[in-house]
Amino acid sequence: MVEPSSNPSPQPLPDGIVPEHVIARTENLWLTVMVSMLVVMMAIIVTTGILGALHPSSNVEVVDPLTLHLRGEFVESNLGTAIEPDGSATVRLIAEQYDFVPHCVQVPAGTPVTFRLASADVIHGFLLPDTNVNAMVVPGFVTEVRAHFDAARDYDMPCHEFCGYGHHAMWAHVSVVPKERFANLTPVERTSCAP
Ligand code: CUA
Repeated sequence: MVEPSSNPSPQPLPDGIVPEHVIARTENLWLTVMVSMLVVMMAIIVTTGILGALHPSSNVEVVDPLTLHLRGEFVESNLGTAIEPDGSATVRLIAEQYDFVPHCVQVPAGTPVTFRLASADVIHGFLLPDTNVNAMVVPGFVTEVRAHFDAARDYDMPCHEFCGYGHHAMWAHVSVVPKERFANLTPVERTSCAP
């Protein structure tokens, strides 16, 4: 073995000191392992994405973010909780930096509830703890989640997708109230939680 010129008179290394070439070989080995794992994981993501036709959650329904609040389904006057002819409830919300609009909605218990959300800017997250509601709100798409609440309860709703410096303060509120009580709420009360 050729010794490095900087070490013309090599002496045995003390116990516990690993020779430099052994360290280099070990680092190269682990670097190769890590890069290989990254390549395999990227290949899996790309392959499953193509073969599984992965797309944003919900029904791939598009919406022009420029229309939010102004016209179309998500016009300001159409936001909040509406009761459909079949008795189910539809809740329309806009997620935007850094709030959900309306900030608080009331929905009836014991009733099918459909949440429809759109984002005005970046990706936000919509989550109701202890329920099946957990979805991303992607700009340009309508996120639709169907839920059913058995009992009255207040849900705190944190945005769970990092969306900017105000992300931590982006919370909203869904208040599930008894069906009988909901029927007596005015439209303003349903979409503002005002008493
Ligand atoms: Cu919106 Cu995080």
